[in-house]
Amino acid sequence: MNNRANLRETPVRASVAPRLLGWYDRHARVLPWRAPPGSPPMDPYRVWLSEVMLQQTTVAAVRGYFERFTTLWPDVQALAAAEDTQVMGEWAGLGYYARARNLLACARQVAAMGGFPDTRQALAALPGIGPYTSAAIAAIAFDRAETVVDGNVERVVARLFAVKTPMPAAKPELVALAETLTPDRRPGDFAQAMMDLGATICTPRNPACALCPLNDLCHARALGLAAELPRKSPKPPRPLRLGTAWLALDAGHVLVERRPAKGLLGGTLAFPSTGWDGTEHPPPAAGPWRELGEVRHIFTHFELHLTVLAGPPQGINRGLLLPRADFDPTTLPGLMRKVWALAR
Ligand code: ADE
Repeated sequence: MNNRANLRETPVRASVAPRLLGWYDRHARVLPWRAPPGSPPMDPYRVWLSEVMLQQTTVAAVRGYFERFTTLWPDVQALAAAEDTQVMGEWAGLGYYARARNLLACARQVAAMGGFPDTRQALAALPGIGPYTSAAIAAIAFDRAETVVDGNVERVVARLFAVKTPMPAAKPELVALAETLTPDRRPGDFAQAMMDLGATICTPRNPACALCPLNDLCHARALGLAAELPRKSPKPPRPLRLGTAWLALDAGHVLVERRPAKGLLGGTLAFPSTGWDGTEHPPPAAGPWRELGEVRHIFTHFELHLTVLAGPPQGINRGLLLPRADFDPTTLPGLMRKVWALAR
């Protein structure tokens, strides 16, 4: 019998949750959206907001945004009543802007329903809530025995069970194994404990196995493979796309546009641009244009190099000519902030 079968089939598996919860009671990270270990859950609005923000984004990046959102909009009714453009502006810089559009759609649906549903299935029917987020909210806000599997948890489980199948093919196997660990008592704390273990001890490189509460149960460690797992299939290289952005401005005005709701940077405020997002446009003003330089930006599926041209705001054929006093560059997405930085 191999080690993994051994862990799966013996009572050793049953000791994972109590051990990990004991560790969490002492070492849980203090986070603004988190109730202390063993206490009643946070309000589902805060749990939902944090989990949507934390999709593909680090805890460090999310903190400030979470504080601002909950100050501006302390409950789901307040967020549901917010202006779309204000929410997009506050989201600016967090990336993956479809999340902000879905956030508003979800808030409005939940406000109309009178509150968040409390099962994974009903949560998963809401905009922007996929399998991960529905499980996280059900477990953390409603203490349902759902299994929450993010990248941290995948790594912990791959190591604990010494799963050698490379990612992403290993995902279904890792989810099935993670499900065998979820306890009926304190499933929300357990889910967060798995995330914290992955974020602070069972890290991608140089895992701190000596400090791990599960080290004697870990098959990767026994095999000397902890730092190597999970394995990854080689990624195809990111293709390069080229485009142009136009800064039509003078001392008093700057030309911007609201990007279409669907597609890359959907719904964000931007400088007119072309050639990189599947659309082609002529210059938005008459010129003449001079080249300011190039900005580079990494999207999930491609790398972008944008040539930035500057010219006077004359002969304008699209966009919105804003007085400089009404233009707040902090409401731009990261790519467009880089474009703006060239103008200074
Ligand atoms: N990453 C995503 N959700 C999290 C949570 N609730 N706690 C810590 N890290 C997380």
